Amino acid sequence: MKSTEMPLNEKILNKKARIGVIGLGYVGLPLAVEFAKKGFQAIGIDINEERVKKINAGESYILDTEEKDIEALVAQKRLEAVSHYEVLKHLDTISICVPTPLRKTKEPDISYIVSAVREIARYLHKGQLIILESTTYPGTTDEVILPLLQSSGLKVGQDFYLAFSPERVDPGNPTYKTNNIPKVVGGITPQCTKMAKLLYEQVIEKVIPLSSTKVAETVKLLENTFRSVNIALVNELALISNRLGIDVWEVIEAAATKPFGFMPFYPGPGLGGHCIPIDPQYLSWKARMNDFNAKFIDLAGEINKLMPEYVVTRVVDALNHREKSVKSSQILILGVAYKKDVKDSRESPAEEIIRILQKKEAQILYNDPYIPEFVLDNSTIHSMALTDELLEKTDCVVIVTDHSCYDFPGIVEKSNLVIDTRNATKGIEEPKKIVKL
Ligand SMILES: NC(=O)c1ccc[n+]([C@@H]2O[C@H](COP(=O)([O-])OP(=O)(O)OC[C@H]3O[C@@H](n4cnc5c(N)ncnc54)[C@H](O)[C@@H]3O)[C@@H](O)[C@H]2O)c1
Repeated sequence: MKSTEMPLNEKILNKKARIGVIGLGYVGLPLAVEFAKKGFQAIGIDINEERVKKINAGESYILDTEEKDIEALVAQKRLEAVSHYEVLKHLDTISICVPTPLRKTKEPDISYIVSAVREIARYLHKGQLIILESTTYPGTTDEVILPLLQSSGLKVGQDFYLAFSPERVDPGNPTYKTNNIPKVVGGITPQCTKMAKLLYEQVIEKVIPLSSTKVAETVKLLENTFRSVNIALVNELALISNRLGIDVWEVIEAAATKPFGFMPFYPGPGLGGHCIPIDPQYLSWKARMNDFNAKFIDLAGEINKLMPEYVVTRVVDALNHREKSVKSSQILILGVAYKKDVKDSRESPAEEIIRILQKKEAQILYNDPYIPEFVLDNSTIHSMALTDELLEKTDCVVIVTDHSCYDFPGIVEKSNLVIDTRNATKGIEEPKKIVKL
């Protein structure tokens, strides 16, 4: 039987299914690579020509995806990237991994999903499986995507399959990668769930089927809201501890010795990245659309948003203590990535910290080995080489991101004053120099 005539389940089991991934970012690229590694032919579609060129040249722009893998898979013709959608007509499965940001009004912006789905609808054919991976509000798959796809006249569960399966990848995590993070899938019909599960089982160690797309969408929002709420709780504890004159880090570490009923979360300079500051707002918005105010979720967001301002207060107070004003002081920000060991600065708390300090007329410098330049409100700042001279001449160093490659004892030794928002200086006894969150 020619592979074009084979039912989709057989194509998947025989690795004859042609896999499409729309959006080759932190989520899509590792997924496409995983399929290609397992013997499928994977085709990535991205509107960013630069990214497409890089993949086809065997280059990686994502830290967790190794260049040698891309190079080998492209050479074996298992992985290819394109910037047009005509290729969709030859694909058997399509995973959508495009961004889901917020609008200026803080409402969900699912326009990237909608534009990708409109293209899929043009080429939709019998036997195709469409899976949305982008994080979104409950109802996106069945209320928005399904009608767009069914406008083709094809029927879901019979002619084509549609499911939601959230990506849980954690960039920079050395243990958990795309292939060993359990994956949940929920289809529009039981047949859709079955097909999506079968596909992902070929590349992911454990796949958990769910009763609907809405449940699968909500699972992802619960996971990230759980983090946002718990981080807000410890951020509030940091503010309380400061007033009480106790070390919040010591409190959390001691509480974590309890082997049950407690899970440690840590305070910091504020939330960052494409997920934790945004995803809870998708859930809160959907609740509001259903006449429910998600007070808990919104309060967590408010508390987390206070943190950059709080960090600046600590900087101002520490300089004041040394009879210096923040105005004209030279302040070195260490780390502008949103978390350690990643080259992603989206929604980084460093943005707001720098913005507030600049308003106070401080002179801002930064170093981040992963982010050579940082664009803030249309102006570009460049990372400075982290030299002893730089540390010695700046009035204050603010550790915003605790990259593993930083030599914190050395940094403290050469600096005049260090504001540590991450407990990166734990164990270094320099109470006169170090101010913790
Ligand atoms: N980054 C993470 O750690 C992470 C983890 C889990 C889930 N997610 C979710 O996964 C989704 C993707 O996030 P990401 O971090 O990979 O984003 P990203 O910005 O790194 O990558 C998205 C890619 O999609 C491309 N794109 C945008 N519109 C397109 C279109 N219409 N057609 C083709 N390509 C298009 C962009 O050019 C970009 O390369 C989001 O919903 C995010 O919330 C992200």
